[in-house]
Amino acid sequence: MPMVTLRIQRFDPENDQRPVYREYAVNADPTDRVLDAINSVKWYQDGSLTYRRSCAHGICGSDAMRINGANRLACKVLIRDVGAKVTIEPLMGFRVIKDLVVDMEPFFAQFRSVLPYLINDEGAPERERTQSVHEREVYDDTTKCILCAACTTSCPSFWADENFVGPAAIVNAHRFIFDSRDKAAAERLDILNDREGVWRCRTVFNCTEACPREIRITKAIGEVKKAILSSAR
Ligand code: SF4
Ligand code: F3S
Ligand code: FES
Repeated sequence: MPMVTLRIQRFDPENDQRPVYREYAVNADPTDRVLDAINSVKWYQDGSLTYRRSCAHGICGSDAMRINGANRLACKVLIRDVGAKVTIEPLMGFRVIKDLVVDMEPFFAQFRSVLPYLINDEGAPERERTQSVHEREVYDDTTKCILCAACTTSCPSFWADENFVGPAAIVNAHRFIFDSRDKAAAERLDILNDREGVWRCRTVFNCTEACPREIRITKAIGEVKKAILSSAR
């Protein structure tokens, strides 16, 4: 099995003044995931290495990190695609709690701020609220978000202004704004028309590039911007 060197940013707030990089040599197959190699470090070399992971199949969104400078899910990146020396760092723009674990609370607060749930106070119909195939297609792409934060933490507008609501929150607002069963689109558009809302997006496309679910994020943001402009007419 070939040897791969993982260069991992470490930070223990109880002992370190600032982050340091430590290198670990691990045996890894080309078809192993980067997460497998990180697990190998934790299980066989240094149990204090701290990172989030759960599903290991690109579904839970918990192991987003910077791999060779790009935001990726460690469980979706193969060793053969990253070379013999891999640099692994926490997501940018959030406080590092320990090693690769960042404080996600501000991210989830932005997510909650856009009312990411179905709102419809009309009386419940006798049967389900129906929707045509076309009506469902309009927001299909944005239903795929797994809240990994790879998009928001790759966005220069977010790096410059941590109060920017960020692409992930806009994606999750889009998912309900364009749902024909929902009745709170106007409220969400109003929230996103704020100075920290969609207009902070400068169409940089880093978010779209980073999304492990291949959501066309910049397109979705554009659709929300257009909806705000149309509703103002
Ligand atoms: Fe992650 Fe994509 Fe959702 Fe952003 S839109 S949080 S990159 S899944
Ligand atoms: Fe940022 Fe994506 Fe807009 S990277 S500037 S939210 S297109
Ligand atoms: Fe769940 Fe990677 S561990 S997405």
